[in-house]
Amino acid sequence: MGAVWSLVIIGVAVLLILGIKLLGSPKTARWGNRLAAIGMLVGLLALPDAGGEPVWQRDWDLNYLLIVSGIVVGLALGALGAYSVKMTAMPQMVALFNGLGGGAAALVGGLEFARAAATQPEPLILPFGDPITGADLVIAPEFLRSVMPSSAAAMLFATLIGALAFTGSVVAYLKLNGKLERPRLFRGQHIVNALLFIAALALGGWLAFNATGSGATALLLLLAVLALLFGVALVLPIGGADMPVVISLLNSFTGLAVAADGLVIGNLAMLVAGTLVGSSGTLLTLLMCRAMNRPVGNVLFGAFGSGGGGPAAAGALAGKSVKSIQADEAALLLSYARQVVIVPGYGLAVAQAQHQVCELAEELGQRGVEVCFAIHPVAGRMPGHMNVLLAEANIPYDQLHEMEAVNPVMERVDVCLVIGANDVVNPAAREEPASPIYGMPIIEADRAKAVIVLKRSMAAGFAGIDNHLFYKDNTRMLFGDAKASLTALVSQVKAS
Ligand code: TAP
Repeated sequence: MGAVWSLVIIGVAVLLILGIKLLGSPKTARWGNRLAAIGMLVGLLALPDAGGEPVWQRDWDLNYLLIVSGIVVGLALGALGAYSVKMTAMPQMVALFNGLGGGAAALVGGLEFARAAATQPEPLILPFGDPITGADLVIAPEFLRSVMPSSAAAMLFATLIGALAFTGSVVAYLKLNGKLERPRLFRGQHIVNALLFIAALALGGWLAFNATGSGATALLLLLAVLALLFGVALVLPIGGADMPVVISLLNSFTGLAVAADGLVIGNLAMLVAGTLVGSSGTLLTLLMCRAMNRPVGNVLFGAFGSGGGGPAAAGALAGKSVKSIQADEAALLLSYARQVVIVPGYGLAVAQAQHQVCELAEELGQRGVEVCFAIHPVAGRMPGHMNVLLAEANIPYDQLHEMEAVNPVMERVDVCLVIGANDVVNPAAREEPASPIYGMPIIEADRAKAVIVLKRSMAAGFAGIDNHLFYKDNTRMLFGDAKASLTALVSQVKAS
C-alpha cells in the first residue's frame, strides 16, 4: 500500500506542477486551472496523513457537519465572488483570496501548537541551572519529543507568516479598491516595523523552546497579534500601484505557511502545493521587479507610486512642445501603413476600450495592413493585465507578441500606435541615466517610422515622470479618452 500512496503523492505533485506550467499561456490556462484543482482534490481526499492512512479510513473524532457546512459556505462564496468579479477587479479578488488562505494557514499552525502545548500542563524542571543566570532550566521533555524543535517551529512559522499575509492582503485589497491608496508614512515607520517583526520573531523563538500549558497559548495569541499588526504596518506605506508585486510576495508567504502546515499535520499535498505557491510567488515577484528595473527593497520600502498618474514632473523637457494630430489624419496614416504595431497600456484598461481596439485591428487587417500587438510584461497594473484585456475582446493570441520579439523589427514598423501606455514606452529608460526608470526594458516605440500616442493629457504614468517619446519628431499625440479616440479612428478608417 505504501508504494501506491507514494505514486499518488507523486501524481498529485505532477498535476500541480503541470497546472502551473499550463497557466503560462492563455490558450492552456483553463486546463492548467482544472488540473491543479483535480490535484488538490485528490490530495485532500486521498493522501495519507502522518499515520499512513487516507482520510476516509481514519477513525477521527471530527465534527463532519461543521466541516461540510464550512465547505458549502466557502464554495458558495468563492463561486459568487469569481462569477461576479469584473476583470478589472481581479487583483483585488486575488488579494482577498490570498489573505483568506494566509489566515487559514495561521489558524491551522496556531491551533496545532495550542493543542500540543495544552497536553503538557507542567514544564519539567531539570535538576541543573542555567550556567549564566543560575535559574532552573525549564524544559518539557514530552513536548520536546512530540513536537519540538522542528514541528513547533513549523507551527509558529505558519502562524506568524500566515497572519501577516492575512492582514497584509486585506490592506492590499483596500488599496486596490481605492481606499488607503496613497502610501501612509510617518517618521521612523521603518524602525517601528522592524521592531514589530523582531518582537514577533523573538517571541516565536522563545515559544519554540518553552511552550507548555495555557501560558503558551496566551503568548501564541500575542505572537499572532504582533504578526497581524506587522502585516498592516508592512503594506500601509507602499503605493497602491505597487500592490501586484506586494500581493505576489504575500502570496508566496501564504504558500510557505501552507507548506509549514503540511509538515506539521503530515499532509504532503499541502507541503507540495505550499512549496509551489511559495516558490512561484517569489519568482513572479522577482520577475516583476526586474521588468520594472527596481529592487524588491525599493518596492517594499520606497513608497513609490501614488496609484496611477499625476501631472508630469517639470524636467529637462519643460518648454519643449509636442505635436498633436486629429483622428482623420491618424486614420490615414494607419490605413496606408504596411505594418502597424499596437502598444496597449494601463490607459486602455481604464478606458475599457479593448473591443474598439479589436475593431480597429480587424478593419486595418481587412485593408491588408499587417497588425500586431506588442505586450510589455508590466504594462497595466497586474501580471498579464494586457493579455487578459485583449483576450476579453477575442483578439487572437498569435497577434500578441512579446517585447523581445517586436523590438528588433521596430525600425521597419510604419506606425506604432501607443494606447494608454506611458512608462513602458519611455525612452528615458534607455537614454537618461538619472531617470528613476533607467535600465528598465521598454518597448522601443520611438524607433518606429511614425508613432501615434492616444492619451487624455500630458499627465505622467505610474512612475510619475515625463516621457521623452511624446516630444520626438516622429511622434504625434491624439488627445482624448482612448475609447472615444479609437471609436473615431475606426469610423475614419472605414470612411477612408
Ligand atoms: P502608465 O505608465 O501607468 O501610463 C498609463 C497612461 O494611461 C497614463 O499616462 C494616462 O495618461 C493614460 N490613461 C489613463 N486613462 C486613460 C484613458 N481613459 N484614455 C487614454 N489614456 C488614459 O501605464 P503603462 O505604460 O502600462 O505602465 C505600467 C506601469 O505600472 C509601469 O511603470 C509599471 O512598472 C507599473 N506597474 C506595473 C505592474 C504590473 S505587474 N503590470 C505592477 C506594478 C507597477 P492620461 O492621464 O494623460 O490619459
